[in-house]
Amino acid sequence: MVSELSPCLLLLFLQPFLCASEATPKPELEPCEVDDEDYRCACNFSGPQPNWFSGLQCMVAVEVEIRAGGRSLDNFLQGADTEPRHYADVLKGLRVRRLTVGAARVPARLLFALLRALGYSRLKELTLEDLEVTGTSLPPLLEAPGPALSALRLHNVSWATGGAWLAELQQWLKPSLKVLSIAQAPSLAFSCEQLRSFPTLTTLDLSDNPGLGERGLAAALCPHKFPALQDLRLRSAGIETLTGVCVALAAATVQPNSLDLSQNALLGTANPSVPGCIWPSALNYLNLSFAGLRKVPKGLPAKLSVLDLSCNRLNKAPRQDELPQVESLTLDGNPFLDPGAHKSHEDTENSSVTQACVHLLLAIGIPGTLTLLQGTRGFA
Ligand SMILES: *[C@@H]1O[C@H](CO)[C@@H](O)[C@H](O)[C@H]1NC(C)=O
Ligand SMILES: *[C@@H]1O[C@H](CO)[C@@H](O)[C@H](O)[C@H]1NC(C)=O
Ligand SMILES: *[C@@H]1O[C@H](CO)[C@@H](O)[C@H](O)[C@H]1NC(C)=O
Ligand SMILES: *[C@@H]1O[C@H](CO)[C@@H](O)[C@H](O)[C@H]1NC(C)=O
Repeated sequence: MVSELSPCLLLLFLQPFLCASEATPKPELEPCEVDDEDYRCACNFSGPQPNWFSGLQCMVAVEVEIRAGGRSLDNFLQGADTEPRHYADVLKGLRVRRLTVGAARVPARLLFALLRALGYSRLKELTLEDLEVTGTSLPPLLEAPGPALSALRLHNVSWATGGAWLAELQQWLKPSLKVLSIAQAPSLAFSCEQLRSFPTLTTLDLSDNPGLGERGLAAALCPHKFPALQDLRLRSAGIETLTGVCVALAAATVQPNSLDLSQNALLGTANPSVPGCIWPSALNYLNLSFAGLRKVPKGLPAKLSVLDLSCNRLNKAPRQDELPQVESLTLDGNPFLDPGAHKSHEDTENSSVTQACVHLLLAIGIPGTLTLLQGTRGFA
């Protein structure tokens, strides 16, 4: 019975001694598997009566992945009150550096208890995937008791606390984060007053949030909270205007040197004369591939190291004076490069150049953006 296991937190392998005296249910299929090198361990607890103790195998692994088949973990809540200090030595000895927890309904209290326990481990990268975080939790008593993560990735995670979630989650993490990536998020409108600064965060990836748009971006980029940001990724983020992005960056006082706007249906211009639109002076990489562009956008930064305009709908080779001063320019996958291209819509749609882009896009995922290439009208 799951309730008998309640002292054994979300991850049994974290608390072997607490769990050791509990009765083991009759094992059905082994939900967990470790590879021969004891490097990677993956558990899939989606069966009707999963043997949670199978997770003990993962104690030796460096990379651990746990999926709970979408079930609710409310039954483990009692374990959330266990004091992790008592088994700190075990936690310190764990080899785990990368952990993925996915497919579950998990109470916030349990999730944060897990983070507190992981504060004794040397975990570096945490991924939360397909989670529904329910309920609320009191803030930690101690300052940042959780792990010193370098990377935190959230993919399709919803929170009962709405826009306050990032500020709450942040309280449990030591301020060491370098990479934060949040995809398919129901809300990226953070409560900026509550949020603390991310002093070491260099990469913020908000890709794969088609509902974000320029407004959402402005709400997500809390001013002065990302002082070290270098790399901002906004692939497939519902962005339509370069001006909106430019204004949002300036308002947030972020100075990225790399900006990925690929896979957004961009309108062709940035308007630097709009008040507040000043490109970050450090910007030297700009990715505008798969953006449905028919022309090189006007108003780009004057100088760039890398400009990617591949897989757009440019019908003519861009003139020198249309382009910024750029060291590396990519124009692959535009109709003007197709040797057999005719001016008719049917031919361009099926052209080998466009087809190559479709394959590329399928390979990198996010199929929704296929519409940026297909069903194109009026190439001529
Ligand atoms: C987990 O196991 C179920 C069947 O028990 C299977 O349908 C599902 O695809 C598995 N998930 C993963 C991520 O392997
Ligand atoms: C997102 O996560 C929820 C669980 O919180 C799950 O039911 C849903 O299927 C997930 N969505 C996708 C697209 O995987
Ligand atoms: C630009 O983004 C696309 C995908 O969105 C990627 O395939 C491509 O490699 C990127 N270009 C550069 C120069 O990094
Ligand atoms: C594109 O090519 C495929 C086969 O390669 C064909 O079935 C399809 O009808 C063509 N589409 C157009 C619009 O010509």
